[in-house]
Amino acid sequence: MSKVTELKTDTDFVAGKFPEQISIDLSNKCNLRCRFCHLNFYEPEKWTQLSYDDFLNIAPFLDGVEKISIFSKYEPLTCRDFIPIFNKMCETDIETYFSTNGILLNDEIIDAVVGKLTYLTVSITGFTQESYTTNMGQDRLEKVRENLTKLNAAKKAANTDLPKLRITTVALLDTLDEICMSLDFAAEFEAAEGVRLSYFESHDEAMSKLLPLVSPEAFSKAIDEAAEYAKNIGVKFEPIGGTMDEIEGDVDEELGHRPCGLPWETMSLQPNGDVYPCTAATTTVGNFFENTLEEIWNGEQLAEFRRGVNNPEAMNKDCAECCHCQIRSVLKVESNDWGSNEECFGGSTRIKKQA
Ligand SMILES: C[S@@+](CC[C@H](N)C(=O)[O-])C[C@H]1O[C@@H](n2cnc3c(N)ncnc32)[C@H](O)[C@@H]1O
Ligand code: SF4
Ligand code: SF4
Repeated sequence: MSKVTELKTDTDFVAGKFPEQISIDLSNKCNLRCRFCHLNFYEPEKWTQLSYDDFLNIAPFLDGVEKISIFSKYEPLTCRDFIPIFNKMCETDIETYFSTNGILLNDEIIDAVVGKLTYLTVSITGFTQESYTTNMGQDRLEKVRENLTKLNAAKKAANTDLPKLRITTVALLDTLDEICMSLDFAAEFEAAEGVRLSYFESHDEAMSKLLPLVSPEAFSKAIDEAAEYAKNIGVKFEPIGGTMDEIEGDVDEELGHRPCGLPWETMSLQPNGDVYPCTAATTTVGNFFENTLEEIWNGEQLAEFRRGVNNPEAMNKDCAECCHCQIRSVLKVESNDWGSNEECFGGSTRIKKQA
């Protein structure tokens, strides 16, 4: 059987069955402007965040959900009500996870998450003061180190391994020489989940020269060397989606991306209520201030989107240009080079450069 015929179609959907995983952005803001991030190039129509009361309206739906990612595109710790919302999530038996730049990981947040949050990812690109400042836009590496030291002390005091820590770093052509430093950093801060490496996708024409597709050999060599180094020092290392060869080997020629089952398993929520079929899509399938999550999950808009995920003849534009880090090809221009796009996630529009 070919990969495409094994793929999920709309008839695989069981109405009423809950998604296994939800991702939710609690705010669409960030305290940083990393040089590679969409937030550095696009701005939303409106800055917004979810309130605790808004969250209470959708909380009942989480009862049947197994995992929740409390982030997708923005910085979760910029949400004013992060702590009460997180506490409410923890009332159900659910695996929780979020990714942060770690700068706002203060004593109150540490107190709230230790022993309760399942996984915590801290994103760092640049492991010297200079390269951190270049990549992340501010000289804050010391602050992140301080916060992680406090987090580890709090975990020890509470005799817990939660949250399990992971470091994520972005691989651009000019950061490849710091991948091994990310592994040393993970070892120093006892990150049980090690390092995940995300392949750069470009939101700016001037940065597209740093994409993996420009120099696949350089990326493969650096990743192979890092994998060897990780083995030697006993740190987990995972390029997201696999090595370049593994990813390209899995990409279905007809689809142009890896076979994808996400809209049958997940939904992605934004703080203005917009609901997406996955974290990569720019097409909304409803709004949770207008309809319940059950109605959206079982509704026609999501059904229509599902029909265009794995169908080469009538594919959704989002899927044809999929930028999901675990699904996309890293060598396909349309899925990696968004440098000339005027719009980005959530209808955000390109920030006009000063003349
Ligand atoms: C958009 S951030 C949101 C969560 C949080 N602010 C953080 O940085 O972890 C999620 C992840 O995407 C990564 N990322 C951001 N821009 C990227 C890009 N252009 N290419 C690849 N990964 C990127 C970040 O490094 C981070 O690990
Ligand atoms: S910390 Fe995360 S959301 Fe903020 S600018 Fe960097 S990658 Fe983007
Ligand atoms: S955009 Fe990508 S991740 Fe989302 S449903 Fe389509 S193929 Fe899957």
